[in-house]
Amino acid sequence: MALHTLLDLELSVPDPDALVGFWTGLGMERTDDATLGTADRPSQLRLAESTYRHVSELRLGCTDEADLVAIRDGLAALGVASTMGDGVLRCADPLADHDVVVEVAGAPPLTAPPPREINRPGSPARVNRRSSGAVRPTPAPPRRVGHVVFGSTDVARSVAFYRDGLGFKLSDTIDGGIGTFLRCSTDHHNLLLMPAPVPCMNHYAVEMDDVDAIGLAGMRVVTEQPESAVYGIGRHVLGANLFWYLLDPQGGMFELFADMDQITDDEAWEADEYRDDWDPFTIASWEPGPSKPDFFLPADIEQLAEAREAAGR
Ligand SMILES: [Fe+2]
Repeated sequence: MALHTLLDLELSVPDPDALVGFWTGLGMERTDDATLGTADRPSQLRLAESTYRHVSELRLGCTDEADLVAIRDGLAALGVASTMGDGVLRCADPLADHDVVVEVAGAPPLTAPPPREINRPGSPARVNRRSSGAVRPTPAPPRRVGHVVFGSTDVARSVAFYRDGLGFKLSDTIDGGIGTFLRCSTDHHNLLLMPAPVPCMNHYAVEMDDVDAIGLAGMRVVTEQPESAVYGIGRHVLGANLFWYLLDPQGGMFELFADMDQITDDEAWEADEYRDDWDPFTIASWEPGPSKPDFFLPADIEQLAEAREAAGR
């Protein structure tokens, strides 16, 4: 695989400090003034100031210089300009408001959490002891930023940029491509593209250890801001990830997720006979009830569109 990792995101918002406080409160580490990371990955969210909330840069890791050349040529075939030098390729998403940086980099490993001992019928794994899921004084910290979801005014053209230009792989589509799940790692998706009236970020997603880590962190958020809950907790169909969608203090939706499908054999996954059968409403295999409308489009999309236009985008 040429691309191997979503390295980090730069997120631009009116008040970056509000996100620093929020995410350090949930266990992220502040690496420097404007960078948040995790124990394994010191840079996961880089924060910048802007008049409106948007992703301003996506940074990806690839294996070697030959990958950069292939990406440069793939972009050129689409008419997308890029610059290359010192092991880094830079280009801009032709439809959205962010730059894309591809770096020759090692794939940063993730430290596995201690195994969970789950008692299932006929198969007890934990006896005569209390569960760490029940007796855990503080939520386990976030592990990494795993994916981002963009609203696009032309999903097919956005898919061409990421798949044919940058080399993302197709994992699943909803309703013939209205929503398209792409990966640049073994995760089922590092990117989802879906329709929107103006380019926007739908959500960014933070991986947690397991369902308890999602529950404990999410509870902490809704205890402070009950209205921040958007959707969850549930399990998605595509990607299979457990999810809880919430709003951060800058109005950006984020997902706490765990247990996503992993794809290490492209052919085995592509052979999935159901790949094109999903309809747009096959969202969760189970859920607590319907999502708020923000799940599909930010509630402040009109203000975002106005601020975006005022910023000359
Ligand atoms: Fe997600």
